[in-house]
Amino acid sequence: MELQFLGHACFLLDDGACKVLTDPFLSGAGHPDWAEQVQPDFIFVTHGHGDHVGDAVDIARRTGAQVCCTADLSDGVFGPAGVRCIAGNLGGAVRLPFGSAKYFQALHGSGVAGCPACGFLFEMGGKTIYHAGDTALMTDMALLADEHVDAALLPIGDFYTMGPADALRAVKLIRPRLTIPMHYNTFPAIAQDPAAFAAACQAEGYEAKVLRPGEKITL
Ligand code: NI
Ligand code: MN
Repeated sequence: MELQFLGHACFLLDDGACKVLTDPFLSGAGHPDWAEQVQPDFIFVTHGHGDHVGDAVDIARRTGAQVCCTADLSDGVFGPAGVRCIAGNLGGAVRLPFGSAKYFQALHGSGVAGCPACGFLFEMGGKTIYHAGDTALMTDMALLADEHVDAALLPIGDFYTMGPADALRAVKLIRPRLTIPMHYNTFPAIAQDPAAFAAACQAEGYEAKVLRPGEKITL
């Protein structure tokens, strides 16, 4: 089970048979080549803000990948663009060839009227991966401790989402095997020191790893 960080909140998950892409903000983050080359089977989008929808429509049109998002985001953004969607909603899981993905609540706006923001809990390649999307710290994250999360992808940028201190509190609620910070240093407003965050996690006994954009690890 491979996980590649493509910057901001974009990850490529690959179980060897199926590729899942999340929040593909690539050309807008200075990686138009990645937007043109990535070959996902499914694209998961957590909410309708531009730094999460990103290149999703273009990638879906080029590859035929289906977009997985809330029904409201499908109705508001992807449906009108002619993109095929799998439109679930909070608390529900969608079962797909790679495993499943459960829509988990996120405390954030969405950019589309009436649309909730979400995160995703992936069961893929024998691993449990939580992509938090954009969110504030919330006590609901304690529910994830029962899910035995192998990798938690958490925003640390502050300003729009949790900052590093609240993200560390989230780690203590979720108790993942590994934490990977995301959603930092893309814009001046979310400038952070991810190594300091990882060190703070490790000081509390939680493994954390900072990935450079493009870096790939095996879970
Ligand atoms: Ni957002
Ligand atoms: Mn964002």
